Amino acid sequence: METYTVLLPAAGSGRRMGAGFNKLFLEMAGKPILIHTLDVFEQDPDCSGMILSVKDEEKPKIEEMLERFGITKVAALVEGGAERQQSVAACIDAHRSGGIVLVHDAARPFIKRDVIRKLVEVAREDGAAIAGVQVKDTMKVAPDGIVEETVDRSKLWAIQTPQAFRYELLKEASDKAEAEGFLGTDESMIVERLGHPVKVVESTYDNVKMTTKEDLLFGEVLLKQRRQ
Ligand code: C5P
Repeated sequence: METYTVLLPAAGSGRRMGAGFNKLFLEMAGKPILIHTLDVFEQDPDCSGMILSVKDEEKPKIEEMLERFGITKVAALVEGGAERQQSVAACIDAHRSGGIVLVHDAARPFIKRDVIRKLVEVAREDGAAIAGVQVKDTMKVAPDGIVEETVDRSKLWAIQTPQAFRYELLKEASDKAEAEGFLGTDESMIVERLGHPVKVVESTYDNVKMTTKEDLLFGEVLLKQRRQ
């Protein structure tokens, strides 16, 4: 198994959580969400290092947390940007050693090791692999709330992170996006623009992004279940 480096954007504000501060500092089972996520990679022997993008003013607090919770693999804390893509770009620029890189939202603490392993394997072979789950609901296109069409959901995937890439491919995609002022909602979009194929790896429905208060409740239940 090839090792990988994980790039973790952690510089958001979490407005939809309504906590009034970075949602990654909210605790579940006595540990901040950020630490739950970092712990997955700390414990994974295939992860050779982590690069985090953070808000400048939150850097001391995060450094203190890493120390307190025994997170040792963080190679760099870089300054995030106003948009998620810019925060990821800062991590990409800070990583210079090639190989396979994973981009993972710091707000997704429930990613499973076997999904990570599969993503790395596919990215090594094919360059780009993203985690996703098949959509469960009926999907319709409805601009302004008026249904235009119903989409064949058997072809649709809800895409998550991690997203895994050969470093050189991701770097080229990121530089091109920046030069052309393109802003995507995930890294796959910027790689797709290069015309490079991206493979979807089946993930799990519990790999939720902690976004609203309901996600926290769900997270507490998942953690409780894992402890049993
Ligand atoms: O806001 P959302 O949950 O979609 O953000 C996904 C991840 O990207 C979070 O871990 C958040 O901290 C990070 N982010 C960032 N810089 C931004 C916005 C979001 O690092 N400007």
